[in-house]
Amino acid sequence: MFRLREFRINTLPTGGKLLCTLFLVCMGIGYVFCQLNVFFSYNRADGRMGLSLQDIVITFHGQPDMLLIESKLKGTMRERLDDESDRNSLVNWAKRGARKEEFNKIKGIIIKNCLRCHTAGGKSAFAPFDKLSTIADTFTRINKGVPVSRLITLSHIHMISIGMIFALTGAIFLFTPINEKLKIALLISPFGSLMMDIFSWWLTKLVPIFAITVLVGGIFTVIAFLIQFVISMLTMWSREYRNTD
Ligand code: HEC
Repeated sequence: MFRLREFRINTLPTGGKLLCTLFLVCMGIGYVFCQLNVFFSYNRADGRMGLSLQDIVITFHGQPDMLLIESKLKGTMRERLDDESDRNSLVNWAKRGARKEEFNKIKGIIIKNCLRCHTAGGKSAFAPFDKLSTIADTFTRINKGVPVSRLITLSHIHMISIGMIFALTGAIFLFTPINEKLKIALLISPFGSLMMDIFSWWLTKLVPIFAITVLVGGIFTVIAFLIQFVISMLTMWSREYRNTD
């Protein structure tokens, strides 16, 4: 009788092994692109190259002592505007209260450098710059970090999609011949670190110190995925397990 408890992935037919392998490889590559995306989106939040705790704090908690426009033009939006004096014009206009009478002085800068993304259908459609009222509203806000509405979107997308990936990679890893207790720990850890990461986004929004658990959670999810990946691949393809029934 076939017992699922005793089934191991090294006994799969070659087609089954290829299916599992290609799935793991695609998820691995997807994961690398995910991490690159995080790096390129947020590493400049504090204006310096390289992902740091400060970047995480600015992204989620914000910079309560600074206007949003100043913080962004020093950070993630820095490269969107080459000219230092244009940058100062935008910040000074905002600091003077984003007055309608002075709008003509900075209108050209926005049309030329910002509008292609900050409009309906653009990369940052959530903050459109097509109307003076919305520009003034965005520019004069304090940087309070990622808005709750965006955090809800980010959280549900990540929790569901990465949770699904871990469920599937876990379903392959479940049938590897390693010690049962270790296996259970390694099956739980990616979900644990994913939750730690995402819950810490919310906590960092309130208290900056949780940037540390955002970073630790992020690093642990990568390590947990890597361990499952390597053990599953070795089970399927290494000589040691190849001919086992
Ligand atoms: C290539 C696309 C792109 C261009 C061009 C661009 N932005 Fe952005 N902007 C984004 C994205 C994506 C975000 C969301 C991520 C972030 O906050 O860094 C954003 C966010 C912002 C925010 C924060 C909005 C909020 O409500 O949180 C401000 C302020 C901003 N940009 C200002 C500017 C200004 C000023 C310019 C022109 C000098 C500009 N951006 C040009 C893509 C762009």
